[in-house]
Amino acid sequence: MNYSLEFDETRYTVEEISLEGKELTYRAYENIVYVKTPVDTNYQKLSIFVPEVYYRGESINVYDLKSAPIFFPNTVGGYMPSAPEKPGKNFMGKTNAAFFALLKGYVVVSPGARGRGLTDAEGKFTGAAPACIVDLKSAVRYLRHNKNKIPGNVEKIISNGTSAGGALSSLLGVTGNHPDYELYLKKTGAADERDDIFAASCYCPITNLEHADMAYEWEFNGRNDYHRMKFEKAEGSDKPKITQIDGEMTDLQKQLSEKEKVLFPPYLNSLALKAENGRNLELDAKGNGSFKEYIKAFVIASVQKELEKGTGLPDMNWLKVKEKNVISVDFEKFVDFRTRMKETPAFDNVAMGTPENELFGTEDTRYRHFTAFSKEHSIVNGEMADSQQIKLMNPMKYIGDEKCTCAKNFRIRHGVIDRDTSLAISALLTRTLQLSGINVDYHLPWGIPHAGDYDIEELFEWMKKVCANE
Ligand code: DHB
Repeated sequence: MNYSLEFDETRYTVEEISLEGKELTYRAYENIVYVKTPVDTNYQKLSIFVPEVYYRGESINVYDLKSAPIFFPNTVGGYMPSAPEKPGKNFMGKTNAAFFALLKGYVVVSPGARGRGLTDAEGKFTGAAPACIVDLKSAVRYLRHNKNKIPGNVEKIISNGTSAGGALSSLLGVTGNHPDYELYLKKTGAADERDDIFAASCYCPITNLEHADMAYEWEFNGRNDYHRMKFEKAEGSDKPKITQIDGEMTDLQKQLSEKEKVLFPPYLNSLALKAENGRNLELDAKGNGSFKEYIKAFVIASVQKELEKGTGLPDMNWLKVKEKNVISVDFEKFVDFRTRMKETPAFDNVAMGTPENELFGTEDTRYRHFTAFSKEHSIVNGEMADSQQIKLMNPMKYIGDEKCTCAKNFRIRHGVIDRDTSLAISALLTRTLQLSGINVDYHLPWGIPHAGDYDIEELFEWMKKVCANE
């Protein structure tokens, strides 16, 4: 069946919702399939939400029906399939960013996207990479295709996402209009339009996957016990079920950690990055050097910001503070404080089974390796993903590529106690973007675990600022 790419302005409902002591009336255009020939209409669809006052000719702050920037929060988690989400509570029981965005006068477009594990009627996997990024791009193209009818300003699309969703937000931001994705977009019947966006907000992007294992061991090697919480949707409750998992790495995992950690310095050095002061960002064979100091500076900035709030901090053995000023941070003790979350290898498991192994599968093969290291050390004789599939998921490979129209603004956040990926990964993404002339607001917020949308007011301040600077 062929779907129309024309937006039907007459198909909407008006909804009222009251949350956090605030009332909101909005217009909802829901579940619009955004490609002509979808593979899965449960996910290749989007919903558009608009403050109802705009239809009475009113404005909110400086925005109105035509000028409002479009907030584009994906709902991707764990690289799984993701459906559009209405303003309201998310699966963690938290009021979502869409609700607050509408109150602030943004138009909200909530895109769905295919993801790993999705199968069709014949049991073929339909959501392996690059399906998720192709779908987000298709959604952007649908908006542009209908720019005269769509509420909001399609030249001010601001993507938002957390974790795998943060990775996709960064990828969408970097790879605008790159021809590498064209065949996939054509195949699924995306509109023939531009897919670049204005800005990307990325909470803890789980990205640069083929280098994330080595970065993880550069940071966590020597910490052999791991600690994490498992979050599951609990039937009949709007709060998740949480289980604590604690364990000790096996001898094999410890050996793999030793081998992985030495791979990171050559990779980092090959990027030839420089700090703001012009100093080369490097690491020696032991993993020490200016890049470590660079990350330490962000940790210091995080603590300093917290101290300036005047909340007071407990005594911590990695931190020296004098009269509300951070004097020093012991990086190794700081990493002990963070603790390891994942066993080695953290992403490309030698026994397969991680979200990322599944992301790099094919129609017929559920899991594949995506690093030479884990392919070589595979204990299940796993297949290796194609290099192009791996590239299509990595924004680092596209930054500075002249065939991309990169978003002008990025906001990247990585919580100080978020260990789903190494702090090196978000720092590298940030610095590489900055060195290619892109505006990046980067911070490691104090006390924040693996999470997103926890600083909504600051996020909206940033959005307002970057939109006003245009
Ligand atoms: C997510 C978290 C992970 O630790 C990971 O490896 C992939 C995705 C997530 O929360 O989306």
